[in-house]
Amino acid sequence: MTTFAGSTALVTGGASGIGYLTGKRLLEQGLSHLVVWDVQDDALARVVGELTSLGHRVDGFRVDVTDLAQVRDALGRMRASGVHVDILVNNAGIVVGREFAAHTHDDVRRTMAVNALAPMHLALEILPGMLERRRGHVVNIASAAGLVSNPGMSVYCASKWAVIGWSDSLRIEMDRSRSSVQVTTVMPYYIDTGMFAGVRSRVLPILKPDDVAREIVAAIRKDRRFLYLPKALGLLALVRGLMPARLFDTIGGEWAGVYHSMRTFTGRVAAPASAPSLLPPAPREPLAGQRDRRE
Ligand code: NAI
Repeated sequence: MTTFAGSTALVTGGASGIGYLTGKRLLEQGLSHLVVWDVQDDALARVVGELTSLGHRVDGFRVDVTDLAQVRDALGRMRASGVHVDILVNNAGIVVGREFAAHTHDDVRRTMAVNALAPMHLALEILPGMLERRRGHVVNIASAAGLVSNPGMSVYCASKWAVIGWSDSLRIEMDRSRSSVQVTTVMPYYIDTGMFAGVRSRVLPILKPDDVAREIVAAIRKDRRFLYLPKALGLLALVRGLMPARLFDTIGGEWAGVYHSMRTFTGRVAAPASAPSLLPPAPREPLAGQRDRRE
């Protein structure tokens, strides 16, 4: 069981969407200190302002998780002020919604860097402290896209496939060494945050962000190894393994419409900072809790 009281959680990409809602929910459930990292200055300021005004201890850092120098600098500043991460939520993510041949090399590099490599590098920086203090929980927000192939999001699928393989291997290593560090791998279907705006889902309903955040926080508290949302997704690997590929393509891909879901994808039309539909309005006062690496 992971306890929230007396704990500090670091949520990457926590200035919008699932990261924002998960951080907020952790605080509502008794978390003592939330640290939010993001690249969106305005959204970061709004989140820190809103949650601080509710009486919570919250700090925000502008950190690009793909930049190891920024990661180390922010962690160094946190440690210097006596802050150690007990719960790491690797949540920051991006998607390029187009056929593989239309990707640029930079699309490929950036998607893998944010979604797949950054969680590993960040865990490498934070894990030694968790092992030394004999407490910690690493939460990796993967995706159902790491369980099933899907045209229109090949590199995103690859990045989430990588996260699942790494995250669960880390979980086994922690178990086998009888460490008290927990690892939870989260695999949600499409969520209505705006990241996948425009996608169509024929069979499964698109998930509501608040429901997803609630389930993530419950899974952290209960030290769940896997969180499939909806639960039925847990059967996907079994079904894919048992069915010949062409039969799965026909039933899952064509009839159930999975392979058509990205056809209508638009993603966020405006930059996320100007369209954070899940966020509160900007505060009028300067933010006491916010820290920026340009300080
Ligand atoms: P979102 O776009 O609302 O939030 C992602 C956050 O990550 C943003 O605040 C963004 O600024 C931040 N971010 C992006 N690149 C960053 C970087 N280099 N450094 C620091 N922060 C960075 O998206 P959403 O929907 O909340 O997604 C959260 C996680 O859930 C992602 O990992 C996503 O892949 C995953 N997911 C989302 C699904 C969906 O349908 N929205 C479905 C399954 C998984």
